[in-house]
Amino acid sequence: MSDHDLVVRGGTVVTAADTFRADIGIRGGRIATIADSLAAGRETIDADGLLVLPGGVDSHCHMDQPPFMGVESADDFLSGSLSAACGGNTTIMPFAMVLRDEPLRPAVEAYREKARGKAVIDYAIHLIVPDADAGRLGQELPPLIDEGYTSFKVFLTYEGLVLEDREMLDVLAMARREGALVMVHAENEHCIHWLTERLVASGRTSPEFHAAARPAAAEREATHRAIALAEIADAPILLVHVSAGEAMEQIEWAQDRGLRVYGETCPQYLFLSDADLARPGFEGAKYMCSPPPRAADNQEALWRGLRQGIFQVYSSDHAPYRFESDRGKKHHGDNPPFHKVPPGVPGIETRLPLLFSEGVGKGRLNLNRFVALTATNAARLYGVYPRKGTIAVGGDADLALWDPGRTVTIRHADLHDNMDYSPYEGMEVTGWPVTTISRGEVVVREAEPVCEPGRGRFLACGRPDSARPV
Ligand code: URP
Ligand code: ZN
Ligand code: ZN
Repeated sequence: MSDHDLVVRGGTVVTAADTFRADIGIRGGRIATIADSLAAGRETIDADGLLVLPGGVDSHCHMDQPPFMGVESADDFLSGSLSAACGGNTTIMPFAMVLRDEPLRPAVEAYREKARGKAVIDYAIHLIVPDADAGRLGQELPPLIDEGYTSFKVFLTYEGLVLEDREMLDVLAMARREGALVMVHAENEHCIHWLTERLVASGRTSPEFHAAARPAAAEREATHRAIALAEIADAPILLVHVSAGEAMEQIEWAQDRGLRVYGETCPQYLFLSDADLARPGFEGAKYMCSPPPRAADNQEALWRGLRQGIFQVYSSDHAPYRFESDRGKKHHGDNPPFHKVPPGVPGIETRLPLLFSEGVGKGRLNLNRFVALTATNAARLYGVYPRKGTIAVGGDADLALWDPGRTVTIRHADLHDNMDYSPYEGMEVTGWPVTTISRGEVVVREAEPVCEPGRGRFLACGRPDSARPV
């Protein structure tokens, strides 16, 4: 017997760079040895026929947030992180939410408190920056960034959150000075407002009009504006939840000019479309998120972005608002107008299997790019690499063991979140993460959670890695 706590034997190890057969020896929660052949450890897992991947890093998800549009998240840190772990993830990065003029420090402390005793895997926390108040940028944010909150999201839409151009420049300049990464939600608020007023006035209020109120042009314009502002301030940015091919083209344009502009897309833009929003009655609300899913032929553009490295990150943007609930999508009645419906779709557990099946399984992505998009690049960009996001001696033993041949029909009843639906109900996927290991501890075995609430730890992020993601 070897002196490893756990040995994962006989699997095919995949990182963003390599694919090779190896045994992995784990000691004290970290990867101690990677070798052709290891003797059994105190515990040994037979991974013959399985793929051994870095645990997924879901770097954009929402849980236990204060009410948004009056509506609470259905998932807290327990159900949210458990569902993530069952979907092959070992790190999550949700947001400490504040609105304009609200102080950040108490919100961050309250959010840390919500995770304590609940999270089953490790978590970092992004901040939200809803204004460019001098005290916020000069006094409040720099110490928080020093303490490991090195990324924050800004909005070009949503009342109470939207930043004007000058405010954006001030925020970007601060981020540059402090070495933080700015995540941008890019949709043009004025256009959305104008369109919403006209749609509502003419009685076009069903969920399908959510897409008409937030057209690709509004996303494209705001994306380009964010890029121009970042160029002027000389700060890196990451455009989050990019839905439209034409918004992605702005990112590609910026990258071709050598700007440090990164992109993220999400399952809802690859596997859902505006046809889902147009399902009969209020059903379309299950697919409402901002920006909205686009026409089906837009999906091919996003696949190109994933394949060619225009997108570095693929995250869930899990935003759990229940459907059949007066504290969810139906907060304003059984059939409210689209602009009264909280936007967001769940997907923290299905993110990886969907991309594996439709990406790797259908030959659109190779395994190494799958790992880069789902774990390595996020770990690099948010400053937790190589502790997270790869398989390397000295790194945390965060692994997902995948059965590439297991076929699963997605049923919400089998998922572990606290939602009441999955937008992917009935979809058949091939490839499933059967075992998840977090810091050397099996947290999901044979697709069933086996972990204690509260074992997850807070991750203080370093300054984002200046190395370009792979
Ligand atoms: O519709 C979405 N994306 N809801 C979550 C909040 C956000 O903007 O990421
Ligand atoms: Zn957003
Ligand atoms: Zn989000």
